[in-house]
Amino acid sequence: KKKLILDVDTGVDDAQSIMVALADPDVEVLGITCCHGNTTLENVLKNTLRVLKVCNRLDIPVYRGCSVPLLARKQHAGDYHGKDGLGDVPDPDAPGLELLQKKKAVQALIKIVKENPGEVTLVATAPLTNLAVAVQLDPSISKKLKALYIMGGNIESRGNTTVCGEFNFVADPEAAYVVLDRYTCPTYIATWEFTCRNSLPWAFCDQLLDQKTEKAAFMKDISALSRKKANSAEYQKEVTEGKGFNACDTYAMAAAVNDSLITESEELAVTVELEGNYARGMMVLDYMQLLKKKNKAFIIKKVDLEKFKQMLMNSLK
Ligand code: BDR
Repeated sequence: KKKLILDVDTGVDDAQSIMVALADPDVEVLGITCCHGNTTLENVLKNTLRVLKVCNRLDIPVYRGCSVPLLARKQHAGDYHGKDGLGDVPDPDAPGLELLQKKKAVQALIKIVKENPGEVTLVATAPLTNLAVAVQLDPSISKKLKALYIMGGNIESRGNTTVCGEFNFVADPEAAYVVLDRYTCPTYIATWEFTCRNSLPWAFCDQLLDQKTEKAAFMKDISALSRKKANSAEYQKEVTEGKGFNACDTYAMAAAVNDSLITESEELAVTVELEGNYARGMMVLDYMQLLKKKNKAFIIKKVDLEKFKQMLMNSLK
């Protein structure tokens, strides 16, 4: 089985992503590490347990990670994900935080990777604070990982949080810098523009969410707010070019789960701008190799959308 660790800031697309990983019988989720991001860390922890409850997988260890960025000012994405991160539709019977592991996320991440050298794929769909702290604490993990998949950054300086910054990178630019600098394992990045261009047609979203299952009903409820936002004329024009719903984190997760999903990528050295009035947090692509960096990343360019849709359908069955 393919071994995964999921590093999440459970908002709506993280929830969908976790479900994609759990639906694949050839994947074993060794643990879920939580980070601040779409909402507060406390909400992220609760949301993650809610998703696991719906999937009947509360046996998966969930760990408390960093609640603040390394240096940046804390920010969340409540406008899109809801104040609670899951569309503001509370579950009165949500599992309690006593189910969390005692060990902290960063220590757990290091331990799991070291116990399974060369076997663990890490999927990061949150600001990269946990990953940055982990590699600072134990640099050896970067070589011991099988692969790293990240949702974050941008390729054409098109932002969703600042003029040219994508949320996960802008929410902790220093952490993104450290991760892109220190992780030497094969790294795959699903950027903001890539996810926008591969948005899902609305008719497909209806088909996905109208499946008569508890998981589909849950996803339909928690995504109502973000679908409404994404369906506005303004968002369609500016973000997805009229193509539909951007499944965001789920592209990175699906690519980690299924190697054959990525049909085109470009290998480049990348880093993150840490200063500037407009460009702080923007991903920088070193086409001319001026940075002389040894470690490069695969920037995902195209995926097999039909396969992706199939994975989404299965995840809510
Ligand atoms: C990223 O920011 C969050 O709002 C999403 O969950 C995704 O991880 C997109 O910029």
